[in-house]
Amino acid sequence: MARNPKVIIIDQDPNTRAETQRMLALSGFAVMGAAGYGMEAITLARETTPEAVVIALEEPIARSLQTIEAVADVLPQTPIVAYSSISDPSVIRRAMQIGVKDYLIAPLKDEDLSHSIHEVLAQEERRQQRLTGEVEPQAYGTVLTIFGAKGGIGKTTIATNVAAALVQRTNQSVALVDLDTRFGDVAILMDIPTDRSIADLALPDDEIDREAVHSCLYTHGSGVAILPAPIRPSEWHSVHPGHIEKMVTVLATTHDYVILDTPGAFNDIVTRALEMSTIVLLIATLDLASLKDTILALEMLRSWSFPAEKIKIVINHTNDTHGDSRIDVRRILGKEVFWSIPYDRNISQATQLGTPIVVAKPKSKASESFIELACAVSGIRLRPKGMLERLGERIAVIGAGQAEAPSDGGKESPERVVESPVKEAVER
Ligand SMILES: Nc1ncnc2c1ncn2[C@@H]1O[C@H](COP(=O)(O)OP(=O)(O)OP(=O)(O)O)[C@@H](O)[C@H]1O
Ligand SMILES: [Mg+2]
Repeated sequence: MARNPKVIIIDQDPNTRAETQRMLALSGFAVMGAAGYGMEAITLARETTPEAVVIALEEPIARSLQTIEAVADVLPQTPIVAYSSISDPSVIRRAMQIGVKDYLIAPLKDEDLSHSIHEVLAQEERRQQRLTGEVEPQAYGTVLTIFGAKGGIGKTTIATNVAAALVQRTNQSVALVDLDTRFGDVAILMDIPTDRSIADLALPDDEIDREAVHSCLYTHGSGVAILPAPIRPSEWHSVHPGHIEKMVTVLATTHDYVILDTPGAFNDIVTRALEMSTIVLLIATLDLASLKDTILALEMLRSWSFPAEKIKIVINHTNDTHGDSRIDVRRILGKEVFWSIPYDRNISQATQLGTPIVVAKPKSKASESFIELACAVSGIRLRPKGMLERLGERIAVIGAGQAEAPSDGGKESPERVVESPVKEAVER
């Protein structure tokens, strides 16, 4: 794709037209011209043959739509991005039907417009590659990266348990790759040998094939296929991001889910893992340092134009003192909390045994949360528990003499958020 994509702007209003032109020029686009609706627009489209068209869709809607249709007739291969103050779904649908590839609601933000144009250009490039047979269609699993801006916040615990829960609940194949470039702990938490590891796959590109990757996989008793990290951090020196990309691609063609555990830091291998992800679980705990680092991680991902919908915030209560927290995480991070994992002392016992807690103690409150989280990322909708079921469980728990009530799921309740001393500290 060209570094300064050529675009034209079609907008009947001279003020917003000039503003959009300024915005695009500042974002590095080569603006080939700007025009109003009708003949003016068609002539500009013909004369400039841009890579993308940015068009305002305003009243009178019929005239805007007529212009869009005519531009699409002149430039059938060129993606069109519309911006509008109209959010009526029927207008948006109509615009999509006649060829608009993306529809942004005004007021426009320069990063949204820029991201949208790059995205539609990338989609058009891929469409062309499909037409010329350059893209080989193949099944591709979901790549789920467990990421966090800090160490010791439960990333490996979550990666191992979600992996085991996915096998249990979906009956599909799951590969877990330990990308912790310092001290990979997956092998310890799953109690597996590490005779073969990622370091054995630091090979020329064409040698990292299905056979080579599978020869380094260890199948755990839970059913999860594990690609361990090398024992010594120095062995990572021979591994570069290209190797990781090839390994993950091979695993994603043979497994329904590929889970990537990462260290609490950014490096070129983590960056490549994030780029390849379908979903990123961004783990944080409720302490000031973790929240501050999570804000910085989110800012960095935004600066890469990383798709926001891929990032899911998971709050892990690694400490029982955080159980009653009133911290407004959503307000601090500027993003909804996707999941919240309760503190559970059974986790450290399971870790000592080298077994994921979802296998060792499937009824514990952490296990319930991990299982529900696995269902949430896989798209399985859990049936809400009825009152009688809940009552039955309570009686069973009391009867068994256990101290813990069953979990009510990990979904963060919006009512739990009030005033936050941490927010003030973070903002300072
Ligand atoms: N929800 C929880 N309840 C209780 N203990 C937890 C919970 N989550 C994690 N822990 C404990 O927190 C500790 C750190 O967990 P873990 O090793 O998974 O973190 P990590 O983010 O992978 O660390 P690192 O960055 O060093 O690899 C472990 O002792 C683990 O048992
Ligand atoms: Mg870890």
